[in-house]
Amino acid sequence: MSDRVLAQGRVAVITGAAMGIGLAAAKRCAARGMKVCLADLAGEDLDAARDAVAEIAPGGDASVLAVATDVSRSADLEALKNEVYARFGETALLMNNAATRTGGKVMGPREDWRHCMNVNFWGVVNGVDAFVPAMMAQGTPAVVVNTGSKQGITNPPGNAAYNVTKAALKSYTESLQHDLRNTPGCQVSAHLLIPGWTTTGKREHKPGAWLPDQVIDVLVEGLGRGDFYILCADNEVTLEMDAKRIAWAAGDITENRPPLSRWHADHAGEFDRA
Ligand SMILES: NC(=O)c1ccc[n+]([C@@H]2O[C@H](COP(=O)([O-])OP(=O)(O)OC[C@H]3O[C@@H](n4cnc5c(N)ncnc54)[C@H](O)[C@@H]3O)[C@@H](O)[C@H]2O)c1
Repeated sequence: MSDRVLAQGRVAVITGAAMGIGLAAAKRCAARGMKVCLADLAGEDLDAARDAVAEIAPGGDASVLAVATDVSRSADLEALKNEVYARFGETALLMNNAATRTGGKVMGPREDWRHCMNVNFWGVVNGVDAFVPAMMAQGTPAVVVNTGSKQGITNPPGNAAYNVTKAALKSYTESLQHDLRNTPGCQVSAHLLIPGWTTTGKREHKPGAWLPDQVIDVLVEGLGRGDFYILCADNEVTLEMDAKRIAWAAGDITENRPPLSRWHADHAGEFDRA
């Protein structure tokens, strides 16, 4: 499937494309001969990313578009869609990837929580609302990739707001794919990309982390198989360990343990011994 979607001449739209995983995805799409639209907050990072992607794209500047977009604003996504369709005429890949880590603890500032939800959850919904009807109407194979997080599945203590947004996104994307696959004639599918620890932004690379390109390798392979859940390891956490952690989190319910039992003093060591 990825051969027909991530294909020469087709169009990729990626939010949060100015750096990190989004930029790596934009570069990979350009290297495959796709036309690429990078959407991110206005600024030097977006401009530099556009130039870097245009250097890779066989069509150069003509096949790369950068659009200043705040994903938390539905009007921005509508304008982005209009610009993409006016310039390139279609969308094969919509990657809803922009996110913020502002948010914080359970009783943290509500303004930060709302911002986190508006970007990480509503930003994706805005992308789907603006693009998916047009992608379905194209009548060609197309995919929506929403970038989730293991934190939305195993809920580690620390940034409760971020975890909530990614848990909501997982649930939403599952329902989206259910609806798409039950829509007669629909050639659009949705996928949840779940990166591991990845060096992104302007952070220094640590040995335990993957590089964004490794996440994109897994994404391309996963789309090629038609996988919905596209789960990435990193240099510290294997896929086997992820499976154990995910099953343990579900086991908190089915085994009647307290929530987040991996971090509960009365259950210390149980997970490691399991
Ligand atoms: N890096 C990791 O370890 C990791 C792990 C799991 C999931 N993720 C997810 O991967 C995705 C990409 O993040 P990254 O790690 O590459 O981070 P990053 O900080 O390198 O990139 C995020 C991008 O999103 C943009 N952005 C933020 N708010 C925006 C808004 N309102 N509108 C438009 N763009 C906005 C930023 O400007 C930035 O360019 C995110 O969804 C993140 O939650 C990352």
